[in-house]
Amino acid sequence: MSITRRQAIHQLSMWALASPLLAEFENEVARSVFQPDRIGPLDELVNVFELEEVARKKLPQPLYNHIAGGVGAEYTLRRNREFFTRITFRPRMLVDVSEMDLSIDLFGSKLFAPILAGPSANHGRLHAEAESATVRGAEAAASAAVISRRSSHSIKEIASQTLTPLWFQADAEITADITRREINQAVDAGCRVICLSIGNNRPGILERDIHSRRLTPDTKLMENSDPSTLKNVWPPNPAQLRKYGGPKLAWNLVDQVKGWSKLPVILRGVMSREEAKDAIDNGIDGLVVSNYGGRTIDGVAATIEVLPAIADEVDGRVPIFIDGGFRRGVDILKGLALGASAVWLGRPILWGLASYGAEGVEKVLRLLQMELALAMGLSGKRNLQAIDRSLVKIDRW
Ligand SMILES: Cc1cc2nc3c(=O)[nH]c(=O)nc-3n(C[C@H](O)[C@H](O)[C@H](O)COP(=O)(O)O)c2cc1C
Repeated sequence: MSITRRQAIHQLSMWALASPLLAEFENEVARSVFQPDRIGPLDELVNVFELEEVARKKLPQPLYNHIAGGVGAEYTLRRNREFFTRITFRPRMLVDVSEMDLSIDLFGSKLFAPILAGPSANHGRLHAEAESATVRGAEAAASAAVISRRSSHSIKEIASQTLTPLWFQADAEITADITRREINQAVDAGCRVICLSIGNNRPGILERDIHSRRLTPDTKLMENSDPSTLKNVWPPNPAQLRKYGGPKLAWNLVDQVKGWSKLPVILRGVMSREEAKDAIDNGIDGLVVSNYGGRTIDGVAATIEVLPAIADEVDGRVPIFIDGGFRRGVDILKGLALGASAVWLGRPILWGLASYGAEGVEKVLRLLQMELALAMGLSGKRNLQAIDRSLVKIDRW
């Protein structure tokens, strides 16, 4: 089959965009504007990658690598970012955008913009005030925060620090008694939504962690740090296959959790339209499209890539949330155009927290709110209702 010169150039440029070099390039720009040993004040920082650079300088290397890493060859980790480059905008100019409004109501809470701080484990490793700082940062940005069941501070303590809406992330794949106890504590603390994670309790191997342990064996940094608890699977032990599998889940868990909490229950880790259909048939109140930032099974698609099919299946019946590689306002606008109600942030919140505590978290959220507003204004969208799929085009090759 012969192809034209134009097609060849197009394919070559698509290949270049999909290479690991892209991720390096994004950080390279951030790195190039800073002197290597200087950590400047917060207001010098222009985008989220620059907070990553500060976090990289401030954190011990094994911990920075633990946050940055994905499982296996980190194929999915990279793809989460790279797929954004295949999505381009089709803006409209002659539209009145003199009055902008980014606000959204989610399960009865009004947020300034459709951007939330997603759940991640053990913020105490990154900052002395741990999740208490994270939620204060979210509050300052009029956002909401999802608290991991692996938080360093108790949910009660975290909730006492803030009026910001808190959602609680439970794991579906652990003993029901533990889940029930944790959910009761979350309800008592005033959490407004329960998020059930699926597919994250199996041992995905972060190879960066294995090397960190070898190079710095006394490090306590990674202990209890992640669902992919390395000690269960490394060194390899094929005689213990059970450890590489996981518990059987049943859909009646959704009803149970609704009964215990009397709160909306959303399901996280959905990556196919079939799973979305089953979830809705079983009474779920919302979905989170997530591959846990490339930290479960390597080789799964980018979240933004599977979002349109899931949105088609859901057809507006419940809100859809998404995370995985959202680093700029334009990424968030693409997510909204393809069917998400709101975007969750994983690593950027950790970079903000590690670099400047609550103020760093606020800065991350404010930067992305500002970038989203700008992208909406420049593409002729004055509010979230005006955003739909006609705003974007996806290159397939
Ligand atoms: C260091 C780290 C810890 C995480 N801990 C949790 C967790 O405790 N519970 C959970 O559901 N997801 C956890 N995640 C997954 C994140 O919520 C999110 O899905 C992921 O970081 C993808 O978003 P990102 O590309 O913006 O980082 C964790 C991710 C990272 C990087």
